[in-house]
Amino acid sequence: MDAPTASPQKSARPSAPAPVVALANQKGGVGKTTTAVTTGVMLAEAGHRVLLVDLDPQGNATSSLGIDKGDLLHTAYNVLVDELPVGRAVAVTDRPRLDLVPATAQLAGAEVELVGVEAREGRLARSLAAVRDRYTVILIDCPPSLGLLTVNALTAARYVIIPIQCEFLALEGVGQLVTTIDLVKRRLNPPLDIIGVLMTMFDARTRLSAHVVEEVRRYFPNRIFDAVIPRSIRLAEAPSFGQSIAEYDAGSRGAEAYRRFTGELTGRLHLPTPAPSVSHRAGARGAASRRPPGTSTTVSRTTVSSTAAPSSPVATAGDHPAADGAAPVPRPSSGADALGAKS
Ligand SMILES: Nc1ncnc2c1ncn2[C@@H]1O[C@H](COP(=O)(O)OP(=O)(O)O)[C@@H](O)[C@H]1O
Ligand SMILES: [Mg+2]
Repeated sequence: MDAPTASPQKSARPSAPAPVVALANQKGGVGKTTTAVTTGVMLAEAGHRVLLVDLDPQGNATSSLGIDKGDLLHTAYNVLVDELPVGRAVAVTDRPRLDLVPATAQLAGAEVELVGVEAREGRLARSLAAVRDRYTVILIDCPPSLGLLTVNALTAARYVIIPIQCEFLALEGVGQLVTTIDLVKRRLNPPLDIIGVLMTMFDARTRLSAHVVEEVRRYFPNRIFDAVIPRSIRLAEAPSFGQSIAEYDAGSRGAEAYRRFTGELTGRLHLPTPAPSVSHRAGARGAASRRPPGTSTTVSRTTVSSTAAPSSPVATAGDHPAADGAAPVPRPSSGADALGAKS
């Protein structure tokens, strides 16, 4: 095990190693990052010790938490390529109990640099194993692809959450995702399981949204979370302020829906009840997230404003371009390729 470099805080000390949960869907713009960041912040506010791993070279989770990428000494790239201990890549998010392994565009190079490296699919799993007893839950925000980065996330994870946007052709590509999850489960990580499907960007004014939920429910019987995330301008605005919706507009419909989802997830993961003494509000953030001097080599100046059991594989397959306008980072291989290369 790697020597810890970031001290755990006293409150809500985990009693069991943290479950690792990956948010995966190779479609861009379905709400992976929004869900990872919001859930991470809400679980931390509730008193849990949370590690969020940004595994997308676009680094949207990193930016969404108000972290200046220019200030980062170490990132997920160093964890994967240089085998840097996770504790040394952790950035200060200025939020109590929430740690982040940040990502920058450099991470895109990891797929290429790890070609030919033995057991490269298990690099993240091995790194996270060393810090699981410091957290109550570890969340991994996956990139919009099924390449080596997502395969690393799936190999490290005990559970997968699949966010699906309530839009036309919502299930396109989901078959390929489920196939990749099954392959990783069979070859690399037998305990891996889909813990649930989260419907996002639901628009109550359209029949399409309700229709899509029904269609997805048929593919994933008993797997859809009861909480459905509405399409909400406030949710879309929050990242530009370096805030989650819990901080930007805690009373909004979007925040309320994510609170319900976080409650459901807490139940499905059987997370321990946090110590009652911890602050449940983000207003207290800052002090508790700072490490004792000299325990972390990563310096992040934050710009946070204070104002504010797998279902049957489905038939359709195929990648989908990013729907959020962000250019997908080209990747050299599909997940199947990454897995096939091993066998
Ligand atoms: N429920 C929602 N309503 C409206 N906009 C949303 C919602 N969830 C996410 N967004 C916005 O949609 C875009 C894509 O979301 P994101 O979480 O980045 O998806 P992914 O990580 O799957 O690419 C972002 O600009 C985000 O702010
Ligand atoms: Mg994302």
